[in-house]
Amino acid sequence: MVIETERLILREFIPADLEAIHEYASNPVVVKHMLWGPNSIDDTQSYLDMTLGMQEQKPRQGFELAVILKESGQLIGGSGVHICSPAIGELGYCFHELHWGRGYASEAARALLSFGFGELNLHRIFATCRPDNIASARVMQKIGMRYEGHLREHMWHNKDNRWVDSHQYSILKQDYKQPL
Ligand SMILES: CC(C)(COP(=O)(O)OP(=O)(O)OC[C@H]1O[C@@H](n2cnc3c(N)ncnc32)[C@H](O)[C@@H]1OP(=O)(O)O)[C@@H](O)C(=O)NCCC(=O)NCCS
Repeated sequence: MVIETERLILREFIPADLEAIHEYASNPVVVKHMLWGPNSIDDTQSYLDMTLGMQEQKPRQGFELAVILKESGQLIGGSGVHICSPAIGELGYCFHELHWGRGYASEAARALLSFGFGELNLHRIFATCRPDNIASARVMQKIGMRYEGHLREHMWHNKDNRWVDSHQYSILKQDYKQPL
């Protein structure tokens, strides 16, 4: 599957993407708010294998896609929507630090909302971030998601060996407006 936006192409990961993924997944700045990383090359290979495995699922539950910059053909991040219970999807994204602040995450996330509500017929799409991940929360706000609350000790943080809180945002199908 391929999704095209004004500046981006979202496509399936392929084995040759390993190095490009590892460039951002091994960066401590990029993974600061994540529950994983900085990745070893084996960690990145496992992530890539997981995304390749998703492509074989029947019915497919996970749509983790490579984000490619149209103008250069560079792989600049990953973004996905994952069906976690019937008609409910979870959105996620992670981009190379050099490409932050240009609206790419919001552009990719909007395309995935359109795919989730349109093609997958989801009813609700949510996303969570750590409370101090301001850029991620801002992406959720910009794509029309609503803040739903502060989830206390919501996820186990392997790196720090502790529970971490999350902020949750969501959007419902009836509130989703297709871009003109
Ligand atoms: C979160 C992330 C995907 C955002 O990607 P991006 O392409 O820079 O996002 P966008 O440019 O679409 O939007 C970012 C918004 O956050 C704002 N922002 C970023 N840092 C900010 C800060 N410290 N304070 C206030 N606003 C901030 C930007 O100004 C922008 O908002 P604007 O368009 O209103 O100006 C990127 O920072 C990233 O990959 N981070 C590491 C991985 C991660 O945290 N993923 C999310 C896990 S929940």
